[in-house]
Amino acid sequence: MSAAASERPILLFDSGIGGLTVLREARVLMPDRRFVYIADDAAFPYGNWEEEELRARLVSLFGALIAEFDPEICMIPCNTASTLALGDLRTAYPETPFVGTVPAIKPAAERTRSGLVSVLATPGTVKRQYTRDLITQWAAKCEVTLIGSVVLAALAEDYMRSGFVDEDAVRAEVAPCFVERDGRRTDIVVLACTHYPFLANRMRKIAPWPVDWLDPAEAIARRALSILPRSDSGEPAPRGPDVARFTSGRTDLVSRRLLQGFGLKV
Ligand code: DGL
Repeated sequence: MSAAASERPILLFDSGIGGLTVLREARVLMPDRRFVYIADDAAFPYGNWEEEELRARLVSLFGALIAEFDPEICMIPCNTASTLALGDLRTAYPETPFVGTVPAIKPAAERTRSGLVSVLATPGTVKRQYTRDLITQWAAKCEVTLIGSVVLAALAEDYMRSGFVDEDAVRAEVAPCFVERDGRRTDIVVLACTHYPFLANRMRKIAPWPVDWLDPAEAIARRALSILPRSDSGEPAPRGPDVARFTSGRTDLVSRRLLQGFGLKV
């Protein structure tokens, strides 16, 4: 039997504004749903955190968020958080379905022709056992280069707020992704941080040769859609506005304008 879409929101969580790359895909696939966007900017960037501290922070933060918003599902469009704490969150909150985000190593391994794949991520995601296990499981026949960038997520945040980015700084971060070996060249770069697709056009521009930049946003949104109970195609449930919250409690005018541009009320 079909039913109207639930009034319970979908919670999207990231360390900053990177998860907005996934929100825009989620909206296309789930137009009848209400979204709550949480940016843990008080702790940004996640990339350099010690694992135990970040894990504890995430488990406690989600306890509060679930109690406050009663989400139907939680999406974590953040590789750094997902590769660390997805299992802990599922154990701590078994009633709540979680959709995580992990580096798109499997699709990259399926698509590469040269066998040279690079994964561009935060230092946290690069050093995770979870990421190493994905390579062993899905990309054993490829040569995978892991690049952990300390500054790229922050450059993406600045770019979204100011419209400006130092191309030389982006080039320096992206350059190690391009590997040549025995006449073969890297042909896929996995964008394994949700902030990076905001810089994808700049990356394309400065790339020494064309590659496929793998952005998993749509796949994450599809996964969320697949686990939601089906709603009918009739009237959507009555719903309030989509809202955003920054954990620092500080949102300047530029951030508010940015979020409004994404249809979020701060
Ligand atoms: N956007 C996050 C990710 O997908 C992390 C950025 C950060 O906080 O360093 O990994």
